[in-house]
Amino acid sequence: MDFSLTEEQEMIRGMVREFAEKELKPKAAYHDETKEFPFEILKSLARLGLMGMNIPQEYGGSNVGTTAYSLAITEIAKGCAATAVTTSVTNMVAEVIHEFGTEEVKNKHLPKICSGEYPAGSFALTEPQAGSDAANIRTTAAKDGDSYVLNGQKSFITSGGQSGITVVWAVTDKEAKRGKGISAFVVEKGTPGFIIGKNEEKMGQRASSTNELFFEDCRIPKENLLGQEGDGFKISMMELDGGRIGIASLALGLGYAAIDYATEYAKGREQFGQPIANFQAIQWMVADSYTELDAAQLLVLRASFLKEKKLPFGKEASMAKLFASETAGRVTIKAIQILGGYGYTKEYPVERYHRDVIVTTLYEGTSEIQRHVIARSIFGRKQG
Ligand code: CAA
Repeated sequence: MDFSLTEEQEMIRGMVREFAEKELKPKAAYHDETKEFPFEILKSLARLGLMGMNIPQEYGGSNVGTTAYSLAITEIAKGCAATAVTTSVTNMVAEVIHEFGTEEVKNKHLPKICSGEYPAGSFALTEPQAGSDAANIRTTAAKDGDSYVLNGQKSFITSGGQSGITVVWAVTDKEAKRGKGISAFVVEKGTPGFIIGKNEEKMGQRASSTNELFFEDCRIPKENLLGQEGDGFKISMMELDGGRIGIASLALGLGYAAIDYATEYAKGREQFGQPIANFQAIQWMVADSYTELDAAQLLVLRASFLKEKKLPFGKEASMAKLFASETAGRVTIKAIQILGGYGYTKEYPVERYHRDVIVTTLYEGTSEIQRHVIARSIFGRKQG
């Protein structure tokens, strides 16, 4: 077994780490405060090849693989988690279009995603009554000549208001068995009948926009269908397996950022006549945090490795997301504890790291859904 990264993976991690340190970290509090969407930063990330990391170069991607992608998302999240989730979801959207789009759809949209011409991509599955129960969506897509006509509502869509391209899941066959009548489509920004609703007022990751979307007789060409009619639910599940590696990587970045900060703080903060880093109570919090984060990172890298090798990785991705997001949540609380009262103020970044990490146990499948996916792969699916 070889735990070392390739030269290219090391280089990408180093490059993104430097970018995050210089360009993301100094502006993260501002973006958190103002909710300002980081358009220019995202363009710079696209220029660095970070928007189509698993997309072949013929479509403008950098095709560096899932491990490099995971490392990059972790580094971006250390600087700004809102930017990291936008980048992660955009990569996921590029992948679903690459895997299931027609050649025409791929040629039209992938270069724009990878180059940053589209500020972001969106993944519109969730609806008000269909969160964890994603098969329960009600948005419809009715075939009409050479078009599909979409009607319905989506909620909590990352970058929904900003993205150039949105992948939308809709019911094409109401009579089909559960999960079998759903299809996936690409919808371009500005298509008549595609209406952007409110941007949620969130606790964390505030510069990532999270929108309601409405479809009112929204007509799209039939070529915008991804894969076959009726395959949409499976497509969403397959893509979410990969997306969960991205969110796990993001959570890791927040955990490391928090404990790195707290460790440095502990070396400089004096109480009882000495740095608090001398106290075992502090040392053990730091030791536990790095141990658990490193364990989480091994799970994330295993899932990345399997995906890159095109081996089954769904259970492993769920394990990685479950453990990384819950670990990072505990670590950010410890970081606040180490800073004491200061940690609870906006003068220091650890309260933001904690607010930012909470959603990682919610989006792209809650921790409960990850446990369900893992348990199901152990016990088998319930019959009947
Ligand atoms: N890969 C391939 N196929 C899969 C699959 C996978 N990982 N998971 C399920 N399928 C297939 C099944 O095999 C089944 O097909 P067959 O009947 O032909 O065998 C079909 O899909 C239906 O599967 P289930 O019966 O398991 O479906 P279910 O209704 O029981 O749901 C679930 C399963 C795991 C609970 C699923 O609904 C789920 O993952 N829920 C969470 C939704 C989620 O993660 N949402 C995130 C929204 S996007 C987001 O958050 C992005 C963002 O902006 C940050």
